[in-house]
Amino acid sequence: MAQSQRKILVTSALPYANGSIHLGHMLEHIQTDIWVRFQKLRGHLCTAVCADDAHGTAIMIKAEQNGITSEELIEGVRQEHMADFNDFMIGYDNYYSTHSPENRAFSEEIYKACRDNGKIAVRSITQAYDPEKKMFLADRFIKGTCPKCKAEDQYGDNCEVCSATYTPMEMINPRSVYSGATPIEKESEHYFFKLPEFQEFLQKWTRSGTLQDQVANKLAEWLDSGLQEWDISRDAPYFGFEIPDTEGKYFYVWLDAPIGYMASFKNLCDRTEGLDFDEYWKKGSETELYHFIGKDIINFHALFWPAMLDCAGYRTPTAVNAHGYVTVDGEKMSKSRGTFIKARTYLNHLDPQYLRYYFAAKLNSRVDDIDLNLTDFVQRVNSDVVGKVVNIASRTASFINKKFDGQLLGTPAQEAMINEFIAAGDTIAEYYETREYGRAMREIMRLADIANTYIADEEPWVKAKNEETLPQVQEICTVSLNLFAILATYLKPVLPNLVADAEAFLNKELTWDNRSELLFGQSVNTFKPLMARIDAKQIEAMIEEGKEEAAAQAPTTPAVETELSKDPIAAEINFDDFAKVDLRIALIAKAEHVEKANKLLKLTLDLGGETRTVFSGIKSAYKPEDLEGKLTVMVANLAPRKMKFGLSEGMVLAAGPGGEEIYLLEPHAGAKPGQRVM
Ligand code: MSP
Ligand code: ZN
Repeated sequence: MAQSQRKILVTSALPYANGSIHLGHMLEHIQTDIWVRFQKLRGHLCTAVCADDAHGTAIMIKAEQNGITSEELIEGVRQEHMADFNDFMIGYDNYYSTHSPENRAFSEEIYKACRDNGKIAVRSITQAYDPEKKMFLADRFIKGTCPKCKAEDQYGDNCEVCSATYTPMEMINPRSVYSGATPIEKESEHYFFKLPEFQEFLQKWTRSGTLQDQVANKLAEWLDSGLQEWDISRDAPYFGFEIPDTEGKYFYVWLDAPIGYMASFKNLCDRTEGLDFDEYWKKGSETELYHFIGKDIINFHALFWPAMLDCAGYRTPTAVNAHGYVTVDGEKMSKSRGTFIKARTYLNHLDPQYLRYYFAAKLNSRVDDIDLNLTDFVQRVNSDVVGKVVNIASRTASFINKKFDGQLLGTPAQEAMINEFIAAGDTIAEYYETREYGRAMREIMRLADIANTYIADEEPWVKAKNEETLPQVQEICTVSLNLFAILATYLKPVLPNLVADAEAFLNKELTWDNRSELLFGQSVNTFKPLMARIDAKQIEAMIEEGKEEAAAQAPTTPAVETELSKDPIAAEINFDDFAKVDLRIALIAKAEHVEKANKLLKLTLDLGGETRTVFSGIKSAYKPEDLEGKLTVMVANLAPRKMKFGLSEGMVLAAGPGGEEIYLLEPHAGAKPGQRVM
């Protein structure tokens, strides 16, 4: 069993300091925290750091709108974030800010090293500029009318209606979202990191076991098509760090954000005995470094970051672990549906351990999205944690407390079963280590089923009623509580509070290695209920609160810049997933314009008797009269959606980039309305 102690540093992506933590963020912090707790439970020296990502235009503007300084804004948000994490039992060893002296020092140092190595280029570029506010405008901060389809109120880089892409200056009537002024074009000098010179290094690095296959494959496409220089500077006014030896040039927020990992760790080292910064970060380090991130920020962590580190003489990450996005009931989290749930809103209604367990049960090592299905959530937590695991203790503890004064049997029994539970720990450890938490949870529940079957077969409640069989009850309960103790050990990374209560009851601090030290002949304390079942009403109340919050919210400030954050890797699905989609041949019985809708047509679809109304965004490509009488393919089991214009009961399938180029699918001749498509 004995293994040498590893030294591990773990990070989660740094949340932006301009908004609240929501359940999407929580997936990441829970995934990280479980892994870190697991490593600590195994006896390794594992340190976890995080911080708020405090720089950038969005934060500066928000502070201005609120009439406070950027520093005040980010400190207030940091306190809020720390409270959220704390209450979700996320135990960072340090939660810092990128707006820190340590981060400024490292950012300058790394930049200078790159510059002195000839990896920084300087050249003039032309950008949109707000002459009133006297600042340059990223595309997201300009709105106007789409030059192609004339849709109003579109962002400066692409049209959400017809998907056209353009530059802000090509728009009709472009406006700065800050001042309403018409942007002008203005030139300024920018600083670039010469990423293309790291092509070979990255080709190797991304294929050296540092990335998930899904991610490495995606990056290979980028690497093959050639890398571009990365613009790392922004002009004043900007909330961030000024670039050394320049005037009015600031590091782009994404330059100093990952360096914030180092800064947070350095800040911890400076007040922690035995934690040496250089041991973890110098090139050639033998410690391990892991970044847990979402799939939207892979490029920053797997291209720019390792290149910069390597260039500046630092070690690169052991691995970058990317996860997918949280959806709620199969859809993107949505403010209007009340499913854009803030961490605090959740905490107002539910025990955080419910969510920790549910996410654990669904997580794997891949980049797939994770669906929080609210019905399944209630059912799964109640049946697994409460119904299976807690049940083992609650069905047996009271007999030990009442009939045997808390005293467990002195002689070992049921050794084969107990040994099976102990041995399973090696498999479960392997699952945790490789982030296959779902598999770990399934294995734990398989064991819990065995324990419950044992108790059900032995019927201690029957045997306790009879003087003759009463002694057997002590054995049954002793065995059961030993099984429970082993399972509690395995669940400790996921359910820290529940297991702390279990430890108090069992009189034992549970660690991975001491799970084989059994509790025969010892005494336990009075048993208290460990976890209540979720009541569906709590979920309803949470969603209601989410909706109210959304309704009360002022129009949102423009989204934060995330240039280069290309999307998503389409997740691989299995046949069962695919079979869930009910595709049908549909006859377009009627197609009509919808008053006041820019992009929608109203379709009446005939499914061979049954009719459906579907609102579809295909107006830019089709005249209604050309569609009537045609066959197409629809998703028939999509949950109905209430739209401004009525209820939409499904979706028709189409291809193409948008605008005039939208092509509805049409089956070959002979297909009949209502037939299932497989
Ligand atoms: N500030 C940057 C990260 C800098 S790291 C050096 C950022 N911040 S964020 O607040 O937008 O996101 C923080 C993390 O939360 C990212 O890893 C992101 O992928 C993750 N998530 C944000 N929304 C999410 C979901 N809906 N689901 C899962 N993860 C999500 O990006
Ligand atoms: Zn358009």
